[in-house]
Amino acid sequence: MSTLIVYESMFGATHAVAEEIASGIRRRNDVTVVSVHDLDPEQVPEADLIVLGAPTHVHGLSTPVSRENAALVGLDSYSGLQLEHDQNPIGMAEWLERAQLPADAGFAVFDTRIRGPRLLVGSAAHHVASLLHTRGIDLVAPPTSFFVMDNHRLEPGERERASAWGAELGLPQPKPFDAVLDPTPATPASLVVGHDGSAQADDALTTALDLAAALSAPVMIVRAWSIDTAPRGALFHDGYASPFSEVDARVRELLIEETRAIRERHPGVAVEFQGVLGQPAEVLIEVSRRARMLVVGSRGRGGFAALMLGSVSEQCVRHAACPVLVVRPSGRDLDDERS
Ligand SMILES: Cc1cc2nc3c(=O)[nH]c(=O)nc-3n(C[C@H](O)[C@H](O)[C@H](O)COP(=O)(O)O)c2cc1C
Repeated sequence: MSTLIVYESMFGATHAVAEEIASGIRRRNDVTVVSVHDLDPEQVPEADLIVLGAPTHVHGLSTPVSRENAALVGLDSYSGLQLEHDQNPIGMAEWLERAQLPADAGFAVFDTRIRGPRLLVGSAAHHVASLLHTRGIDLVAPPTSFFVMDNHRLEPGERERASAWGAELGLPQPKPFDAVLDPTPATPASLVVGHDGSAQADDALTTALDLAAALSAPVMIVRAWSIDTAPRGALFHDGYASPFSEVDARVRELLIEETRAIRERHPGVAVEFQGVLGQPAEVLIEVSRRARMLVVGSRGRGGFAALMLGSVSEQCVRHAACPVLVVRPSGRDLDDERS
């Protein structure tokens, strides 16, 4: 088995962890350790396991601005730190954006960060896991953090922990691990309806609300989002990457606005909303696991991916745990569907 470890590092902590992970894996496998600056993202070599590591900056992956700030910290002669490089080259986020990743590899992610609740200090590893997830890549192990002290150096014992983590990763046939998908499930009485902003989603929502009114059932309206479909301006603000929970909230606000006109025709129905990072079919199946029914349009904004994977409605019909109602397009959309 061959392993490739790609890391980003400003002060050397993430680099050191990458080397320790490699030493653990090396007991069983060939390992290459390489910095994001030295590996052309369009020429990623074949590997059985790819491990990606980055320092946590401002709750997630570094940005050009956070790396500039880090460089200022490193250049301060009192810091005692040594910068890994003297310019401000690309970080993991930019590298991943261009990376052509081998389809058959297993993936694992780690970060370095300050010890503390993830909600407060953030985690670059979870950010990478989310980005991979939107590309349909699941992990072979939970995203893992190695902790630094206030002076950006690794806490005592973290090198040993990294080596042990590497040894575990190197074991054959790790199981896929679904790191990111964590939506709130709908209650058993609810109807769940997917809404991607398309005209057919409006038809599905109308049908779901009609049914809910007749059944006196609540409705949960769900929109899945990805890096490609996130609302304009929601992913970054002031040069920083937004936490995904903020993007979820923005997607939810849009969902509320865009469904208002249809909902106002069904004032008696209790409605909840959810914006979730993930692939639409997976999100809808997960949210509706215990629900009374899942309602979807027969075709939404699927595009090329839908042709490859089957439409979201097809995947829901095949894999959902609850009954699924697929709403055919109303007359005005039939011409679009045929063309
Ligand atoms: C600009 C900047 C922002 C940072 N933001 C965070 C943060 O939000 N959460 C956190 O846990 N650590 C944060 N840190 C600490 C980094 O996680 C720490 O510098 C890093 O783990 C060191 O790894 P490296 O030596 O490989 O660069 C930040 C550091 C810098 C320089």
